[in-house]
Formats: sequence, structure tokens, C-alpha cells
Amino acid sequence: MRILGIETSCDETGVAIYDSDKGLLAEALYSQVELHAEYGGVVPELASRDHIRKTLPLIEQVLQQAGLKRQQLEGIAYTTGPGLVGALMVGAMIGRSLAFSLGVPGIGIHHMEGHLLAPMLEDNPPEFPFVALLVSGGHTQLVGVDGIGAYRLLGESLDDAAGEAFDKVAKMLGLAYPGGPQVAKLAESGEADRFVFPRPMVKHPGLDFSFSGLKTFTLNTVQKHKNSDGSLSEQLRADIALAFQTAVVDTLVIKCRRALKQESMSRLVVAGGVSANHSLREKLNTTLAKVGATAFYARPEFCTDNGAMIAYAGCQRLMAGQSDSLSVNAYPRWPMDQLKPI
Ligand code: KG4
Ligand code: ZN
Repeated sequence: MRILGIETSCDETGVAIYDSDKGLLAEALYSQVELHAEYGGVVPELASRDHIRKTLPLIEQVLQQAGLKRQQLEGIAYTTGPGLVGALMVGAMIGRSLAFSLGVPGIGIHHMEGHLLAPMLEDNPPEFPFVALLVSGGHTQLVGVDGIGAYRLLGESLDDAAGEAFDKVAKMLGLAYPGGPQVAKLAESGEADRFVFPRPMVKHPGLDFSFSGLKTFTLNTVQKHKNSDGSLSEQLRADIALAFQTAVVDTLVIKCRRALKQESMSRLVVAGGVSANHSLREKLNTTLAKVGATAFYARPEFCTDNGAMIAYAGCQRLMAGQSDSLSVNAYPRWPMDQLKPI
């Protein structure tokens, strides 16, 4: 089946065509980062308007790239939640209307299911069941995955998501939005062990996370070391970035190991924007190797938002005979365990 996927849940317009026999045929992404940069975060109304401008040209672009006509599409998948309601409505409206006009099935996809399944687009994809660590700007969750749509929430952040904490720390260090990759870059020149930050909730039993205390700890450290003119030396900024990143990475790794043990599983899928982080990947790979477990990731450009993951997830569901009615819906909040299994 040849499926067009549309992702517009936040600040990236992602479009792709996935073929169940041939794999990914084409993929295009437009990032609104520059549009939102001057505000230090995503402005929902600006995001919706930009998705309106970009989605149709990107669809034309991927059709051309794949050498296909619109009429050769056999289904349309579009993100319907969770995310910014206006932004979601743009992709859902375009996707649903296109499906109707072509007389093919259309289906709304859960954004985090898209992330979770993105590693399936790589060589050597993981087999079910596995534990998934979903770490994005809006979510930090550990999920027991028994199959597509068979998700059990094992633990989640009680406050900030890991990506959100990265973005807020970036602001404290005077880095531009989105901060995750910039904090990671700055941390490369940090001196290890100059600061040791707390690993939140690792002594608590269970699989929940909390990053707001670590964020406050980071802020206090920044304030304490500022010069009288409010500046912070380049080396200190790098040392703080490294201490923060190491604390987040250690916390995530400890909880992943705990989840694998609890579930008696040896496969871990790591997905969402923060899964692009090199330090997280390195630490997870070495830690899991010691216990005979393996981590699976998407290629870095498919860790953050993209259309390919939505086309893939949509293809699996449409092939299983699922599809949505003509009504256009968007769900800003949508627990993953409410999804239909295949
Ligand atoms: O999955 P994603 O693109 O969007 C959401 O669904 O939220 O994730 C974006 C988040 C942002 O908070 C960004 O700062 C973070 O992922 N991120 C990173 C890295 N790349 C992206 N965080 C740490 N290290 C990275 N290399
Ligand atoms: Zn995302």
C-alpha cells in the first residue's frame, strides 16, 4: 500500500510517502524554527498559519520526488494529536479532504505512536514486544509495547518533559530555541565532574520521572556563578550544560534498565527528539550491552518530528483495515493506551 503521511502537530511541517513493499519513497520537511526563534518558543497561531502555507507545496514536492501522481496514492495518514490544536487541524483537514477527493481511506495518527514506530524505518528493526522510552519536547514516557496499538504506560514525567527541560536550560545559558541540540553541543567542551547535579527520582521505586527540580538546581547554579555584570564565562556555561545533560542521561538510563528488568525484556526503543542526543545513545548502548539488552533508534532526522513516521504508522493501520470517518478531529491530549490495537 502507498501512503502519504502528513505531520503538523507543532512547529514542523513533515510530509512523506511510504510504500509497504518498497519502503520510504520520498520525504520532505519544513521547519518553522526561524519563525518562532524571536519569541523563544512556539507561537501556536503563527504555527497554524505557516502549516497552511507549507503543507500543499510539500505534498507536491514529495509526489514529484517519488515520480507519482496524486491518484496513485492509496491512503492518507495525518497526525490528529497530541499537539497544538490549530496546527493539528491544518494537517487533519488537508489529509482528510485529500483522502475524500481521491476516494481512498484516511486515518488520524497519534504523534507519539509515530515517534515510537520511527525506528521501524531502519535496517534491523526491533521485533515486538519491547520497552519504549519516548523523550520529546512534550513527553517523557516509558511504554510497554506488545504490538502496534498495544501500549501500556509504565511511567512518565510528573512535570516537565526531558526535551522541555533541555529547552529551558538552554534559555538559562543564553542559547537559542530549540535548545536541546545546542545544550548538547555546548556540553562537548564542558569539564566532567566540575559540577555534579542530582539524578531526580532514581531512589524512588517505580518508573516515573521529574525534571523540574533539576531545572531549578541548574538555575540556582547559573545564578550563583554569574559575574557582577550578570555574565557567565564560556567554560562555566559549558560545565553547567554538561552537568545537566549527564544528570538527565543518567536518570533516563537508570529508569530504562529498571523498566527492562520489570518487563523481563531485552529490547529498548528510544524515540522522540531527545533520542538524537549522542551522550544518551552512548550511555544507553554501553549500559545495555552489559546486561545483554539492545537499544534501537531512528536515524537522527527521524528522531525529531517528520512525515515519514506518520506515513509508516498510517500504512500499518490502513493495511490492517482501519480508517477514520469523514469528520475532522484533533485531540490536543490523547493517552496512548486508548489507541486501537491492530
Ligand atoms: O520529538 P520532537 O521533535 O517534538 C516533540 O514531539 O516535542 O522533540 C523536540 C525536543 C525539543 O525539546 C528539543 O530540544 C529536543 O527534542 N532535542 C534534543 C536534541 N535534539 C532535539 N534534546 C537533547 N539533545 C538533542 N540532540
Ligand atoms: Zn514529536
